[in-house]
Amino acid sequence: MKKLVILTGAGMSAESGFSTFRDSGGLWEKYNVEDVASPDGWERNPEMVLDFYNGLRKQLMQAKPNAGHQGLYELEQDYDVKIITQNVDDLHERAGNHNVLHLHGELMKVRPVNRENEIYTLTPENCEIHLGDKDKNGIQLRPHIVWFGEPVPMIEKAIEWTEEADIFVIIGTSLNVYPAAGLIHYVRKGIPIYLIDPQEVHIPSGLPVHIIHKGAGEGVKELVQILKSHL
Ligand code: OAD
Repeated sequence: MKKLVILTGAGMSAESGFSTFRDSGGLWEKYNVEDVASPDGWERNPEMVLDFYNGLRKQLMQAKPNAGHQGLYELEQDYDVKIITQNVDDLHERAGNHNVLHLHGELMKVRPVNRENEIYTLTPENCEIHLGDKDKNGIQLRPHIVWFGEPVPMIEKAIEWTEEADIFVIIGTSLNVYPAAGLIHYVRKGIPIYLIDPQEVHIPSGLPVHIIHKGAGEGVKELVQILKSHL
């Protein structure tokens, strides 16, 4: 089976009701990114940070995978599908995809502030954390999210997957945030690259990219048709 590697961003989950970050009306217009997604913000006001992610988790509990997520799952019938996502939701997993790598962490996971590898999974019934919620050693819990200025430990694996791709697909990301945006440079020469996004996305020059100017649901449907005709 050919290796199909897919990089997804916030636009992938827009049709499930999630705001993107940088579109008009996006999350970073409503919140100051420094306040809710940086180690400094956590130092200044951890309660505000916890509230922000508690809110997103509640929203996630109501959300369902959309037609785009489902289409990517169906591609597993014909391809070895690997998804590298910048999204912290679990909608790819809930759609059924087996290989999902979260570059920016996972909303349903938390960890003590002083340990990166002691990870706890929250349940839908108990999906909030507050100041005073601690691990077994009495250390405050924080969201398992990669904040701005923090290392991105999963990038090594993501590069490995990207280098092995026979087909590379980008869906719903403005390609503004590194190192995720730099993954495209690891795609081998001559490998077909597809991009699904309703808006213009700046792609590093010289790379031939097949652009599908549609939202994730319709765009993935078109991608599936194209890929099936190449089987
Ligand atoms: P952005 O908000 O920067 O970009 C979202 C992209 O989705 C844009 O290119 C939109 O045009 C596109 N889009 C909007 N609606 C869509 C739809 N229905 N279908 C497909 N695409 C659609 O989000 P990201 O690129 O994912 O990090 O942002 C990257 C990172 O920046 C996030 O992971 C987050 C953020 O700060 C952290 O919080 C650590």
